Amino acid sequence: MSDLIKDIEIVDKSKEVCDVVNVSKDNAVAGQRKLYIESYGCQMNFSDSEIVASIMQKEGFGTTSNFEDADLIFLNTCSIREKAEQTVRKRLTQFNKVKADKPALLVGVLGCMAERLKSQLLEEEKIVDIVAGPDAYRDLPGLVAEVDDGNKGVNVFLSREETYADITPVRLNSNGITAFISIMRGCDNMCSFCVVPFTRGRERSRDPHSIVAEAQELFAKGYKEVTLLGQNVDSYKWSSDDSLKGKAQIEKAEKKGSDVEVVNFANLLEMVAKVNPDLRVRFSTSHPKDITDEVLHTMAAYENICKYIHLPAQSGNTRVLDIMNRTYTREEYIDRVDAIRRILGDDCGISSDMIAGFCTETEEEHKETITLMDYAKYDFSYMFFYSERPGTLAAKKFEDDIPLEVKKRRLKEIIDKQAELSLERNKRDVGRVYKVLVEGTSKRSEEQLKGRNSANKVVVFPRESYNPGEYVNVKITECTAATLIGEAVD
Ligand code: SAH
Ligand code: SF4
Ligand code: F3S
Repeated sequence: MSDLIKDIEIVDKSKEVCDVVNVSKDNAVAGQRKLYIESYGCQMNFSDSEIVASIMQKEGFGTTSNFEDADLIFLNTCSIREKAEQTVRKRLTQFNKVKADKPALLVGVLGCMAERLKSQLLEEEKIVDIVAGPDAYRDLPGLVAEVDDGNKGVNVFLSREETYADITPVRLNSNGITAFISIMRGCDNMCSFCVVPFTRGRERSRDPHSIVAEAQELFAKGYKEVTLLGQNVDSYKWSSDDSLKGKAQIEKAEKKGSDVEVVNFANLLEMVAKVNPDLRVRFSTSHPKDITDEVLHTMAAYENICKYIHLPAQSGNTRVLDIMNRTYTREEYIDRVDAIRRILGDDCGISSDMIAGFCTETEEEHKETITLMDYAKYDFSYMFFYSERPGTLAAKKFEDDIPLEVKKRRLKEIIDKQAELSLERNKRDVGRVYKVLVEGTSKRSEEQLKGRNSANKVVVFPRESYNPGEYVNVKITECTAATLIGEAVD
């Protein structure tokens, strides 16, 4: 068993979504031009790559999992931290080596780094053929044609409307059981450390009817879980009046008593939950300033809405939160944790993102992050040290003054605290029975299945005669900080 546990812990590192790479599968048929897509960053980026694959498929491109075999390489990039951009640069160097022997090969950079650096990678550094920002993917066939004709292919225009609502994604890395659905794009918050508002543009919400249709289609194909994606899902707001742009205009019209159809996030959750009781619904990311009791009550009302909330705090200190421009205090964050526990109970999973060593953070302020973690009892967290990003409010206003060793030491303290909390939270589950949606076999052994419970915890148990895609009641018998281990019960 100890070997199994070791392996599970390694596998679970894949939950650190940021800076993780995701590669297209083989679906090209003979005679098709082959596209290789490699994606970095968040789930939104992975989801966008599926839209890109769909757009390119209509142009006759099939996907490949081997870049040496490709006619076209797209690197869908992330700018969130400096390290993410360094990884992409290394990869571009490798692709350019292949291109040296295969001049017809085209290399395109998509996503947040394309948007941030605009034509720099193409014109100054000359290491790519195509540059396309997150709102320019419909133009990719046009950009490829431009380059085929010997011209430059750049489009970094950010849109106020684009949601790709009508495009059916080609599922690239799917297990056939769980899928992501983008419900909105962009972000209207201005967290001072964050590059996303600059790379993804203004917030806009996708037509809820197209979201429900996508969920229905996935369920009909055998999928059992959808995750609704947005940088701030609680801010979702859509109106049937196309002339209203963005949340502020919709809210103004609502106040005036206009009779247009308006859908908020709680309404959308309910609409998707009603697709089928056997379709689980998850969502990410929730913003502490926007998550309402209405959303929490909707979660409580539907068994198939998973009881798990990713509620990034970033810091536990009110002064640091203020200069991060997160627009809530420690007390207001705690109020949301209390509301979750009151309405959804102690079993609801809560996770966080934390940044160690933000500009001017003192030792005492850092300790408040640790005490907030103790209060919230996170099941897990994504933890980073601060990385200054050019052009952000923090880069303009504050000095990045915490020495790297101090940032790393504080980060380690946060990670150690989380490991302690995760183990504590998982130990509570030993002896309990959870409904688990089986997603596949454990990497270590074909004899072990792996899935998640409603609270998003990974559960591993002996296969017996169960299969991926089934819901199985599993009694938890042991745990690590990362995984629950159990056996199926009737
Ligand atoms: N929209 C989400 C976060 C998207 S970015 C939210 O508001 O929570 C994912 C995480 O990356 C952030 O929550 C933050 O913890 C981290 N992050 C963003 N910018 C960063 C930076 N400059 N340095 C270190 N971590 C950063
Ligand atoms: Fe970045 Fe803040 Fe928007 Fe999240 S809410 S994407 S951290 S600006
Ligand atoms: Fe990275 Fe862009 Fe996502 S910066 S985290 S890929 S929104």
